[in-house]
Amino acid sequence: MVRLSTFVLRRSVPVLLAVSLLFSCAQEEDMEPYESDGITLAGSYDEYFDIGAAVALGVNSFDSFNAYEDSLLAEFNSFTAENEMKPSVLRTATKGFSWSAADRLVAEAASRGARVRGHALVWHSQTPDWFAKTAASKEAARQNMKDHIEAVLARYDEDEVYCWDVVNEAISDGGDYRKTDSPWYSIYGGPEYIRDAFQFARDANPEVQLFYNDYNIVNTHKQDMIVKMIEDLKLIEDGLIDGVGIQAHWNINNWPSKDTIRNTINRFGEMGLRVHITELDLTGPESEQPLLANRYRDIFEVFIECSQYIDSVTFWGVADDHTWLNSHRGYPNFPFVFSKDHQRKAAYYSIRNLAE
Ligand code: XIL
Repeated sequence: MVRLSTFVLRRSVPVLLAVSLLFSCAQEEDMEPYESDGITLAGSYDEYFDIGAAVALGVNSFDSFNAYEDSLLAEFNSFTAENEMKPSVLRTATKGFSWSAADRLVAEAASRGARVRGHALVWHSQTPDWFAKTAASKEAARQNMKDHIEAVLARYDEDEVYCWDVVNEAISDGGDYRKTDSPWYSIYGGPEYIRDAFQFARDANPEVQLFYNDYNIVNTHKQDMIVKMIEDLKLIEDGLIDGVGIQAHWNINNWPSKDTIRNTINRFGEMGLRVHITELDLTGPESEQPLLANRYRDIFEVFIECSQYIDSVTFWGVADDHTWLNSHRGYPNFPFVFSKDHQRKAAYYSIRNLAE
């Protein structure tokens, strides 16, 4: 049996390779290259805010810098690593560092004249257990956090990575601290880990911009709690925070409303914080695609209205052929302004035309 299957495998490998090569060549030939018309999204929004995209550098096997034409990537002037700057990728089981993918992003961005948003230093997810969950004590976890933040901020200065999501998703949807499902909260027995994270980052580099980033910030309970957290931990008072990242995993149809988006941005802006719209993608079944262009127009109208507070708007991907939403939602999504075959969709023009 073993021999037979080895034989079959050996015989089939070259055939499979040839077939897949043919297939991929055919696909590439069928696909029109992305052709710029001389105007880019980032260029159009130059006077308002950066236009960014999350990029993948090989984790989960997708490589944005191989998959996307330079002309398509040139639509953006800011990049965020979709996974490659998270503790799960930067750190190993033995606590060492794996910088290669993150270094590559910094180099790719620099060669394109784009900025890098760092994501993310302290999070309950995508973090090896030894950091906090299985750490011997609060002190040990605190030291792990300090070592990590210091090493990352020493690796990249503020010209290479100009801002960081220092703490990601510390508040629950119900409007309280994320407690039992945060290894950080659990081992600290409270929210002081959040203040520690900002303090370590500020001490490591006074120039880099520090952000708190979360999803569903538009929801009242969660938003109120984020404001309370910032106040209780005296993050503004003590100069530890520069801004809030509003993850915009929103719906195509109507959630959140324009008013809700506007009020959310203004609330943080009026507190003296900078606002970054992070992780923008619009979920919905294919049947809702006809709504996409108007929905993107509405959303960007609000961003422009509130642009005195906004420095950056980042899509959580580049084009519809790569989005985390498909596995997250369990159905196919088409959340961006570039199609699966890397062409401008109607939504692209509805955004661009607003700024011209
Ligand atoms: C997602 C990535 O897109 C996926 O590839 C990964 O498997 C899970 O994480 N909030 C965040 C992002 O802050 O880091 C998440 O990114 C999406 C939700």
